Amino acid sequence: MKLIQTVKELQTALDDVRAQGKTIGLVPTMGALHAGHASLVKRCVAENDVAVVSVFVNPTQFNDKNDLLKYPRTLEADCHLLEGVGAAIVFAPSVDEMYPEPDNRHFSYAPLDTVMEGVHRPGHFNGVCQIVSKLFEAVKPDRAYFGEKDFQQLAIIREMVRQMRYPLTIVGCPIVREADGLALSSRNARLSEAERVSALGISQTLFRSLDFAKGHTLAETKRFVEEGIASVEGLRLEYFEIVDGRTLQTVSSWDDSDYIVGCITVYCGEVRLIDNIKYKEETK
Ligand code: PAF
Repeated sequence: MKLIQTVKELQTALDDVRAQGKTIGLVPTMGALHAGHASLVKRCVAENDVAVVSVFVNPTQFNDKNDLLKYPRTLEADCHLLEGVGAAIVFAPSVDEMYPEPDNRHFSYAPLDTVMEGVHRPGHFNGVCQIVSKLFEAVKPDRAYFGEKDFQQLAIIREMVRQMRYPLTIVGCPIVREADGLALSSRNARLSEAERVSALGISQTLFRSLDFAKGHTLAETKRFVEEGIASVEGLRLEYFEIVDGRTLQTVSSWDDSDYIVGCITVYCGEVRLIDNIKYKEETK
């Protein structure tokens, strides 16, 4: 496995790969890797000749400076994990390498980015699109892999790829959970023992709501989740929206769409956690 820190070196290595007619897969990450990332990389390794994993804590997507400062940075452990799952290249550039000058590009994919995280983290998706587009342009992958835990991010990246006509396939991968149900997240490492117990209330409430939804209206189900989260000590709900899985706009009845997802963001102490649940699976 090669560790590469500059775009130039990365492009030289990948030009060679392409010249041999090999396919390239990309898994963009911010490091602090866990089994969720490992599942993306394993799929990328299985479906491409060469798997590239980027590890870069992207400053432009943090609207909260404190969150950026506290974001875990664990490159050595990340490389160890990546070697174990068969990544060929780890691309871990510096901030100056990715942003030699300020990035003034503005990405706007309304209405996908004007709801949920778009409301609560202004500028976040603009930063995500800035870095992901830079990575797509540097790596020119055949396929790129993203987790469904960041459900809104995945929808926005798909839309960016469609509008920018990047010649690549976006592969969305299912959420990976701890045995007890908590969605894996690099942020979980910041939870105290007591907070970890509270955090479990998020997935438990979502799973219970799946059953509840069978005999209740969408509005009742929304209230069920809101009250469920409020009843867990240590959790503070930021939002819970039940949306069309493609447009991300709220729906008001189970009949409004064939693809319905509940998206939630909850503070557990100071740690902001997101999760989602599919009430109606996408029919392809
Ligand atoms: O999902 C993430 O970890 C980040 O938003 C991404 C896609 C790597 C861009 O920095």
